[in-house]
Amino acid sequence: MRAGRENKYDSHDNSSRGYSGGAPRSGGYSSGGGGGYGASGGYSSGGYGGGGSSYGGRGGGQGGFGRASNGRDSGQPAKLEDVDWEKHQLKPLVKEYYKEHATVTRRDQFEVDQWLADNQVTLQGKNIPKPIFEFREAPLPETILSLLLGNFKKPTVIQGISWPIAMSGRDIISIAKTGSGKTLGFMLPAINTILNSPKRRSDDGPTVLVLLPTRELAQQVEEVSRDYCKASGISMCCLFGGAPKGGQARDLQRGVDIIVATPGRLIDFIATNTTNLRRCAFLVLDEADRMLDMGFEPQIRKIVGQIRPDRQTMMFSATWPKEVRNMASEFQTDPAWLNVGSMELAANHNITQHIELIEENEKQPRMLQLLDGILKTTEPKTIIFVETKRKADDLTKNMRREGWPVMCIHGDKGQSERDWVLRQFKEGKNPVLLATDVAARGLDVSDIKYVINYDYPNNSEDYVHRIGRTGRSDQTGDAYTFFTSSNGPKARDLIKILDEAKQKVPERLREMANNSRGGGGGRGFKRPYNNGGGSNFDKRPRFGGNSGGGSYGGGGRW
Ligand SMILES: Nc1ncnc2c1ncn2[C@@H]1O[C@H](COP(=O)(O)OP(=O)(O)OP(=O)(O)O)[C@@H](O)[C@H]1O
Ligand SMILES: [Mg+2]
Repeated sequence: MRAGRENKYDSHDNSSRGYSGGAPRSGGYSSGGGGGYGASGGYSSGGYGGGGSSYGGRGGGQGGFGRASNGRDSGQPAKLEDVDWEKHQLKPLVKEYYKEHATVTRRDQFEVDQWLADNQVTLQGKNIPKPIFEFREAPLPETILSLLLGNFKKPTVIQGISWPIAMSGRDIISIAKTGSGKTLGFMLPAINTILNSPKRRSDDGPTVLVLLPTRELAQQVEEVSRDYCKASGISMCCLFGGAPKGGQARDLQRGVDIIVATPGRLIDFIATNTTNLRRCAFLVLDEADRMLDMGFEPQIRKIVGQIRPDRQTMMFSATWPKEVRNMASEFQTDPAWLNVGSMELAANHNITQHIELIEENEKQPRMLQLLDGILKTTEPKTIIFVETKRKADDLTKNMRREGWPVMCIHGDKGQSERDWVLRQFKEGKNPVLLATDVAARGLDVSDIKYVINYDYPNNSEDYVHRIGRTGRSDQTGDAYTFFTSSNGPKARDLIKILDEAKQKVPERLREMANNSRGGGGGRGFKRPYNNGGGSNFDKRPRFGGNSGGGSYGGGGRW
């Protein structure tokens, strides 16, 4: 059962699909012609690829080492022996290079405390350095600072807290709402660590490894970091399943400082010696709770077994359920724990949440009615979440037949189609995206104004991540959620999220919560780091592995 729950969307679902080689760098593909998209795949993927142009490169960058990838897409997680680090003479890592800016040192503690309180920051851990309030207070190179200042006014709260801690060599658990800038929260310290480290030799693997759960997220993180890497002469590559290995392997063999990867493909490359993690000093798990749950746990363990134990390990997410905390502690040493916002599971407050009690057969007409109104607005970009891939396909087909500008994305689609659909959506050519939970985490499309939960998700964390596709950065958005009587056991958890965000709670939802015996149970889901307090997470089937119905997306359902 456990093996069956290993993630399938990061695996090898389309090795026979006919796009041509080259690294799938974002932007390296073209949608080709006016490919009339049909619900069941009339898209035209055109020239996908574009030759693994690994830019930058401080290190040797030639040659590579070991065998080249044999192009195998295993379908099975490759076998990897853990490295016995006792047998290696490790040079000390450069990870504690943080120098506090004089302005920060001078800043009155009262002012810092006020800022922490105003921003609802909770910190746990020893010797946590003071936060920074301005970009210029971070010990970053001028090139990076000027890029930042060109893009944004100030660090977000999570960036202001995370950067000094990450640059002090500490392990971190960093929890902050969706859309709050966590990506640069880890990527800029990552880049700075590389700049402060000895030069990479030609046979060295990367210094930084970022693991994340989906291909789209991998490409997005690469895209967000590209300019900062380029300006710093740092090379990065993006590895994920479903795309040809050739270009990715060539990038690796040229030498890279940063790997951004989904686990399955990375393991394949390590197993074939196309890369190694012997130099890796800085490990990030983005969407950390998702990465640690049963869907990814075996692969994460394999990868971590390849990385020296005195590395820095950073975990970022908007949610941090109790089940993953013990496991997280296996991978970290004395972490600093940072939380911005409520200590309870919390949605982004920029999002207005509408809950509609509805019957299953009313969902489609109601969704179309909503869409009809939305499509008349000037910013109609909408993402609709459904439970299964099958449903995504069927609904999309029906809607397209009736002329609705919708496309869908899920884990059974080929990579070039997934890329193309997302691009069409981002560019607004098809303002409605229908998706499974494969699109629930991390995706940053700035002008998504509406989320519709056509089917209620498996658990409250997924709800928070799904609706978090709108209201990015300081924008606002609306989330409509259809809630049927069969979702009753999830009513209590949902009400807590609504109450926390001061949203309207329909009376019938409260009645359902009172009448329903499952889920919730009134024990709350406080999530203090010390594991204190009761938690209704225990009751959920998602981590059990053998509990039948409650699979948490990690199986084949996305
Ligand atoms: N300092 C900043 N000021 C304003 N906006 C910023 C800042 N840093 C990042 N952003 C923007 O905020 C948006 C969201 O960032 P990001 O995707 O990193 O959020 P996140 O916290 O990772 O969200 P999620 O939990 O959904 O993954 C991006 O469009 C990004 O450009
Ligand atoms: Mg993110």
